[in-house]
Amino acid sequence: MSNKCRVCDAETKFVISYGKMPLANAFLEPSQYDKEYFFELAVSHCPSCKMLQLIDQPKPELMFHEEYAFFSGTSKAMAVHFEDKANSHIQEFIKSPSDAFVIELGSNDGIMLKHFAKNKIKHLGIEPSRNVAEVARQNGVDTIVEFFGKETAQKVLNTHGKADIISASNVMCHIPDLRSVGQGVDLLLKDDGVFEFEDPYLGAMIEKTSYDQIYDEHVYIFSVTSVDNAFAPYGLEVFHVTPLETHGGSMRYHLCRKGAHPIRQSVIDQKAKEKSLGLDTYETYEKFAQSCEKNKKELVELLQNLKSEGKRVVGYAATSKSTTILNYCGIGSDLIECIYDTTPIKQNKFTPGMHIPVKSFDDFYNNAPDYAVLFAWNHAKEIFAKEESYTQSGKNWITFCPDVKVA
Ligand code: TMP
Ligand code: ZN
Repeated sequence: MSNKCRVCDAETKFVISYGKMPLANAFLEPSQYDKEYFFELAVSHCPSCKMLQLIDQPKPELMFHEEYAFFSGTSKAMAVHFEDKANSHIQEFIKSPSDAFVIELGSNDGIMLKHFAKNKIKHLGIEPSRNVAEVARQNGVDTIVEFFGKETAQKVLNTHGKADIISASNVMCHIPDLRSVGQGVDLLLKDDGVFEFEDPYLGAMIEKTSYDQIYDEHVYIFSVTSVDNAFAPYGLEVFHVTPLETHGGSMRYHLCRKGAHPIRQSVIDQKAKEKSLGLDTYETYEKFAQSCEKNKKELVELLQNLKSEGKRVVGYAATSKSTTILNYCGIGSDLIECIYDTTPIKQNKFTPGMHIPVKSFDDFYNNAPDYAVLFAWNHAKEIFAKEESYTQSGKNWITFCPDVKVA
């Protein structure tokens, strides 16, 4: 494990280790248990560029591949979110649709780019997972199967020319080599172009102790300050930010070439908030580590008590985030009988590391448990509305973010 900052090479400071961890989305069958991949999930903070980062990370090829389990298009709320995003880009940053060119990094199944395709705006998705890229192509979205970096940028520059917008959603925090991204964007972006991306926000994670945002795919948890520092060497600066509700608290960053767009008040205000939250000081992360330990202790105690009372406890949604919670807290099928999930390729498999069975929701409705742990806490509103009859029949929810409680 290296303690050198992935972004600026300065010496980082260790924050916390969540221990031996499998890949968050590596749902598996018992015959695969003996070959299961583990790494140490630990986090450090860079006192120089302020980036919170994973110390160790599995190779991207292990995580984003032919069988990548996440299809953006399967969530209705997400479909609306990305349609709004595409429309706001078209209105704000596309001056002439006939000569515009829009790139999306990690374009998944084309959930956002299809709105540019529909408006006949030249676009290109750059997506490393072949299965989701194939779906995008079927939706009429031009897509190449590549990881983004300097080399891919050079290729795209040769074939397509420079871009008005380079966009990415829940992708930038996946890419360990931000230097190569910075160089690629510098090559590909028009002089007044906009480089925009959104990811889970560090401020929200610290405020809510939502440490389950930390897993193999999230190599960075960004703040406005750290993003500004990370891309400054490539002549880029943040000129506008928009806080978002998605993924339990995200931030949308808009960057441009230095001076190309006026810096908006949103950036000044958010940086001031980050200072008041202490995101630039190590003590904040020491406190965060203590809060994680406290949260773990309380959740395990609650589940053990319910078990000793003979209650039936299940999990609601086998999210990527739940892999961190389950493995860090050492929660297996002794404490959580099974996890219900809507994703067919997860069903009838077992969760990474702790091997809790994943089932379809049929059984949840036919044979309701006493308690359900809400792993998809970021969708709480939608889920509580959908599951009103479960709640009305006197059954219980367990939430752990920001605090462990029976809801
Ligand atoms: P993610 O947090 O890793 O994106 O995964 C979300 C998972 O939660 C996905 O496997 C589907 C599942 N899920 C449900 O099963 N029911 C729900 O109501 C919601 C919102 C998600
Ligand atoms: Zn650094």
